[in-house]
Amino acid sequence: MAKEKNIFVCSDCGGTSPKWLGRCPSCGAWNTLVEQVAAPAAAGGGNNRFGTAYASLAGAADLAVLSEIEASEVARTPTGLDELDRVLGGGIVAGGVTLIGGDPGIGKSTLLLQAADALQRAGQNALYVTGEESGAQVALRSRRLGLERSQVQVLAEIQLEKILATLDAHRPAIAVIDSIQTIYSDQLTSAPGSVAQVRECAAHLTRFAKASGTAVVLVGHVTKEGALAGPRVLEHMVDTVLYFEGDTHSSFRLVRAIKNRFGAVNEIGVFAMTERGLKGVANPSAIFLSQHAEPVPGSVVLVTLEGTRPMLVEIQALVDNGGPSPRRLSVGLERDRLAMLLAVLHRHAGVACMDQDVFVNAVGGVRITEPAADLAVMLAITSSLRGKPLPKGFIAFGEVGLAGEVRPAPRGQERLREAAKLGFSVAVVPKANAPRKGAKEIEGLAIHPVERIEEAMDV
Ligand code: TYD
Ligand code: MG
Repeated sequence: MAKEKNIFVCSDCGGTSPKWLGRCPSCGAWNTLVEQVAAPAAAGGGNNRFGTAYASLAGAADLAVLSEIEASEVARTPTGLDELDRVLGGGIVAGGVTLIGGDPGIGKSTLLLQAADALQRAGQNALYVTGEESGAQVALRSRRLGLERSQVQVLAEIQLEKILATLDAHRPAIAVIDSIQTIYSDQLTSAPGSVAQVRECAAHLTRFAKASGTAVVLVGHVTKEGALAGPRVLEHMVDTVLYFEGDTHSSFRLVRAIKNRFGAVNEIGVFAMTERGLKGVANPSAIFLSQHAEPVPGSVVLVTLEGTRPMLVEIQALVDNGGPSPRRLSVGLERDRLAMLLAVLHRHAGVACMDQDVFVNAVGGVRITEPAADLAVMLAITSSLRGKPLPKGFIAFGEVGLAGEVRPAPRGQERLREAAKLGFSVAVVPKANAPRKGAKEIEGLAIHPVERIEEAMDV
């Protein structure tokens, strides 16, 4: 059979070209042309007048009234790893496609091999496609994980058509593709890992998942910029997107749901990397605290809410004399937000860092996305600038607005209770988050409610 001639499609405007060009001939954008398999010419092609060609191309599809469609809950199979199930919203979904991204070496293959094995032991067929490592290397890892008797089927293959044929023959309950960047389709001439290949392969695998009911998990590597290399394009195609976060130097790893058609987003799973693979951490609230014997300047403990669980994370700031163009650097927190907080500090609390370098870090490689971190960040910066530590057992949370007002954080009571449980004794919180007069006090915690950033600075 003659090979279809491929075309190049602009990812911005959809314009096409028979050959690759640096610039889209239709919209003029640079580097947007991506190779695609040319669709076979439609029968009776050319005649696209309503009522004539469409009707003859295919029978009309069935319409249904929404209220008459039976609503069924999706069936989930727990993976047996509690923390993973938590992020997935209860377990894997038949026919669902999950993309799991993260830096190389963070533990994606380890986690998925453990999950595949747990599912296999629970009587679900698991198939692990490895494109990066040989079967022997996967076997070596499984021995390290203590899975000597694992019945998981392993396929070392990178050609999409062969993988699909194997999947179709075996129809496993779950198929892991490690990784999508190593797989290539014969239909395209571009190299594996290119946007065209990644998109084409993921589209075929997604179609297979929907048609067969196999849950497909795609592993994707993240580039330095934080985008899944090329396959950002995959995010909208798949049902669930999970990201692995964490500092490769510390043993804790977070798995965060960025998108989930079958559950809540921004739920996180916490794992510790051990000698024998990843172990779930059921009660992670205190793992991101570094232990100081005595309070040090520039350190504030933040009570943040990740998914459904409160967690305590130490925020560290260092303010030091800068050169003519002082630097602002943040790890785990947004840099733009830091610039804004510095402006608010200056304008409303009279704390000036204009000629100072400011570095802010969330301990343990966590990424904090909620604005409730503002107050803790500002207190840490002020504490470092003044060289004065905050009192022992101190925590803070609350969002700070441009006008210097301190806004409440969601579920404040829960955060306070968690802090009290871990032995913290002093809290600066938004006024609306403080327990109401007459309400039950939180034992052992002296709470200072504040309405404005200036008040917080006085504490
Ligand atoms: P891996 O799952 O290969 O990462 P990815 O697939 O995301 O690239 O994780 C490899 C790292 O995990 C490696 O640095 C070794 C470490 N590791 C352990 O600490 N304990 C273990 O039991 C295993 C299997 C790996
Ligand atoms: Mg790997």
